[in-house]
Amino acid sequence: MCGIVGYTGPREAYPVILKGLKRLEYRGYDSAGVALLNNGLKVYKKKGKVADLEESLIGQDVHANIGIGHTRWATHGEPNDRNAHPHLSASGRLAMIHNGIIENYALIKKELLSKGYTFKSDTDTEVLLNFIDEIQHHNECSLEEAVRVALKRVVGAYCILLIDKEDPHTIIAARKGSPLVIGIGKGEHFLASDATPIIEYTKEVVYVNDYELAIVRPDELILKNLGNEKITPYVTKLDMDLAAIEKGGYEHFMLKEIFEQPKTIYDCLRGRLDVANGTITMAGVENYMEQLKNAPRIIIIACGTSWHAGLVAEYVIEDLCRIPVEVEYASEFRYRNPVVNKGDVIIAISQSGETADTLVAIEKAKEQGAIIFGVVNAVGSSIARASHAGAYTHSGPEIGVASTKAFTGQLAVLNMIALKIAKAKGTISDERYKNLLGELEAVPEKVETILENAAAVKAIAEKYKDSSDALFLGRGYNFPVALEGALKLKEISYIHAEGYPAAEMKHGPIALVTEILPVVFVATKDSYHEKVVSNMQEIKARKGRVISIITEGDTISPTLSDDIFAVPPADEVIAPMLSVIPLQLLSYYVGTAKGYNVDMPRNLAKSVTVE
Ligand code: G6P
Repeated sequence: MCGIVGYTGPREAYPVILKGLKRLEYRGYDSAGVALLNNGLKVYKKKGKVADLEESLIGQDVHANIGIGHTRWATHGEPNDRNAHPHLSASGRLAMIHNGIIENYALIKKELLSKGYTFKSDTDTEVLLNFIDEIQHHNECSLEEAVRVALKRVVGAYCILLIDKEDPHTIIAARKGSPLVIGIGKGEHFLASDATPIIEYTKEVVYVNDYELAIVRPDELILKNLGNEKITPYVTKLDMDLAAIEKGGYEHFMLKEIFEQPKTIYDCLRGRLDVANGTITMAGVENYMEQLKNAPRIIIIACGTSWHAGLVAEYVIEDLCRIPVEVEYASEFRYRNPVVNKGDVIIAISQSGETADTLVAIEKAKEQGAIIFGVVNAVGSSIARASHAGAYTHSGPEIGVASTKAFTGQLAVLNMIALKIAKAKGTISDERYKNLLGELEAVPEKVETILENAAAVKAIAEKYKDSSDALFLGRGYNFPVALEGALKLKEISYIHAEGYPAAEMKHGPIALVTEILPVVFVATKDSYHEKVVSNMQEIKARKGRVISIITEGDTISPTLSDDIFAVPPADEVIAPMLSVIPLQLLSYYVGTAKGYNVDMPRNLAKSVTVE
C-alpha cells in the first residue's frame, strides 16, 4: 500500500505527480504530499485525500522539473500532516517517500537519537531517511552510496524515492518487497508504484526488482544491485490503454468494474476456450501438466477476495480432478511451519500481484521445493514474476478498492485450469467436460442478463441499507460466494456482515436471528439445493428476513423469502461466477445509498504491500 510517483525531465513535475497520485489513490488515502525541487526543496503535505492536497496548493509556487509524491496508507504513526510523506532529513537536504515497513526502525532510531538526531514524525520512514543522511555525512560519500549502505542494514519492505537539494536532476530509488515501475520517455523518466500514472506518457517501462537501486536522471537510467554492480534494465512494453483506467461515464470505478464483467470474463476466455474443438489453450498449464496432473496435493495461497476464489477452486479441483486441495491465508501460511512435500503445487492467486503476504508465502514454498503457479491479474507484477508458471486473468486494471471483476476472472481461469487437468487425468467424463466448456462460454452473456436487472438489486439495497448486521449463507460451491458477499458488504457499507455455511447456523449463529436481521441466502439450484431450502425454513420459522439469490424458475425459495433476485441457470461449478454479481451490486448500492465513497472505503487500501 501507499502510492509513490516521481518525475524528472523537461515537463512541469507537479501536474504529472498530482495526476499520478490520483491514479494511485486506491493504494491508500490517509494523506498525500509532494516534494518539488526548484531553487530549494519544497515539501507540501496534508492529511486526507489527494484532492485536499491539491486544493491547499492553489496559489502556491509549484514550478519544478523534478519532484516526488506520495499517497499514504498509515502504518507507523496516525494519519496526520506530520506523519504524511515526503519527509525531510534533519539536514534539510534530502526528501524521501516510502512504501513499506522498516521493521528494525526502533533500533536505528535509538542509534540516531544517541547521535543527537530529533524527529518530527512518528514514522519509520523518517528514521530511514535520517539514517541515510547520517551515513552520507559520516562517510562523506555520495547519496547513492549512503542509500546502499543503509539498505544493507534495513529489515523489512520498502520502495523509496529520494531527491537531494544539491543534485537538481536526480531521483534515487530502490525497492525490496514494494513495487516500482520506471517509465522511459524522451529525455524524461517517470517513476511509480504501478504503470497507471505512466501510460499516458510512455509505454516503455522497466520493472525494478528487489534489491535493485535506480539512479534516474532525465536522459539516463542506471540500475545497480546493492553490491554496486550495474544491471542492464529490461525494458518491456505496456499492454494497457488510458481508457482502461478511467471511469468511462460511471459514477464509481466499482460500478464500472462490476458492469465490465461480461467483457472481462470474455477476454479471459478468449483465445483459450474452444468449445467446438473441445480444447482449452493455456501454455502455463500445458508446460507444467505432468507436475499438475501428478501433484499429490495442491495448496492455494491468497488473501481477501482472492482467497475466496481459492475456496471455490478447492471445490472445483477436488470435484473434477480428484486432487486434494488446501486453501491457506498467505499471512498464516508464511508464519506457520507448513508441510510442503515434493511434488506439491502451490497456486498463488492475486489481483495486484503485489500482496506482500502472498509474495513471501510463495518464496517460503519455493524454498521447500514447491512449484508455484500464479493466477494473477496485473501483468509483470512481482507475484507473476516470482511464479514458475501461471495464467493471467486479463481483467484489466482494477481500481475500485473492493475487488469485483478480478474475482470472476480468477474463477474463469481456475475453472479452465481444473478442466484441463481433469481432462488430462481422465477424471472427468467427455460429456461433462464438453458441457462445462459450453457453460463457461455462456457466462459473459448470462452476466449481462443479470446486470440488466441491476435496478432490482438497488431496490433491495434501499430496503435494507439501515441494517446494522447481515448474514450471508450458502452451501457447497456457494459457501465461498456467501463469504465474498459478506466481505463486500462490510468493506463498502461498514455493515457488520458474516458469511457462514448455511448448515452451520444451528451451531451458533442462528441465535442472532431476529425480525430485523437480513439473512442473504446464496441459493442457486445445485446438488444441495433442498438442504439450503430447509435452512431457509429454519430462518423463516424464527422470523428472520430472507433475501435469496436463486435460479430463474425456482418456485419454492420465493415462498420462503422476503426478497429474491434470480440469476440464469448454470452448472453448480460455474454458478459462483453468476451468483456473486448481485452480491457485488448489493454492497455497491447499500454503500452509495449510505453516502459512502465506495471506491475508497475507510481504512482500506487495494494493494497491500505490507504484512
Ligand atoms: C486487499 C484488497 C482486496 C483484495 C486483497 C488481496 O485487501 O482490498 O480487494 O482481495 O487485498 O489482494 P490481491 O491483490 O492479492 O488479490
